[in-house]
Amino acid sequence: MSAYPLVSLKLATSLDGKIALANGQSQWITGSEARAQGHKLRAEHDAILVGSGTVLADDPTLTVRLPGYAGPQPVRIIADARLRTPNDGKLAHSLDVAPVWIFTAPEAPGDRKNELKKQGFDVVSVPEGGNGGVDICAVLSALARRGIKRLLVEGGGVLAASLIRAGRVDRLEWFRAPVILGADALPCVAALALRDLAAASRFTRVEVRQLGDDLWERLHRRKT
Ligand SMILES: NC(=O)c1ccc[n+]([C@@H]2O[C@H](COP(=O)([O-])OP(=O)(O)OC[C@H]3O[C@@H](n4cnc5c(N)ncnc54)[C@H](OP(=O)(O)O)[C@@H]3O)[C@@H](O)[C@H]2O)c1
Repeated sequence: MSAYPLVSLKLATSLDGKIALANGQSQWITGSEARAQGHKLRAEHDAILVGSGTVLADDPTLTVRLPGYAGPQPVRIIADARLRTPNDGKLAHSLDVAPVWIFTAPEAPGDRKNELKKQGFDVVSVPEGGNGGVDICAVLSALARRGIKRLLVEGGGVLAASLIRAGRVDRLEWFRAPVILGADALPCVAALALRDLAAASRFTRVEVRQLGDDLWERLHRRKT
């Protein structure tokens, strides 16, 4: 068994690399063809991971919604150290469609833990990460132990930065819309505090496709 799942990071950005306006609005940066491809990607993965910021901002369902699709639904996974996932959001209302695993910190409020468990969420404690949140490598190895081989990470920028800092992004699925959102919008990858270009994560472009007005780029991490 591999120690970690294969991690693909999917982002839908503007030309200037933003994923949402400063007020959190991000639906929809890309067009319908790119979004349909996003659903196909979900269908090819065992699980989808997002940060709690995305759950709070977007109230996503994170299911595969393609016409005629009858295959398995990926497990939905939230990195949520403070257990802020709402009890009455779309994830809670779709627990019969696919499970939701919430990875939280040992210090998360016990009453919230019980409440969410009672509702049907699977709440898993892992150590805290060095920069706050949960230890992302601990989450990935727990996922591998639970049989997750292919993980699609759908943002947001804070979670993306954590995974890149940890060197755990194997592939990028990058959707780029011909729109400019400006410096006050949210970056697709939060601060990495790099001091040396040689230390930056580099990727090789393996496929580029136009989807409506958008571009879809698939990239693989360079080994050296
Ligand atoms: N266009 C796109 O592709 C796209 C995709 C997704 C989201 N978005 C937009 O992005 C915005 C949300 O993104 P965001 O960057 O603010 O939030 P985010 O990355 O979704 O979530 C960040 C939160 O996740 C929790 N977390 C737990 N463990 C973590 C870890 N190891 N590393 C990082 N985070 C961890 C932390 O909260 P706790 O400490 O409370 O756990 C952290 O504040 C929304 O506006 C949404 O609409 C756009």
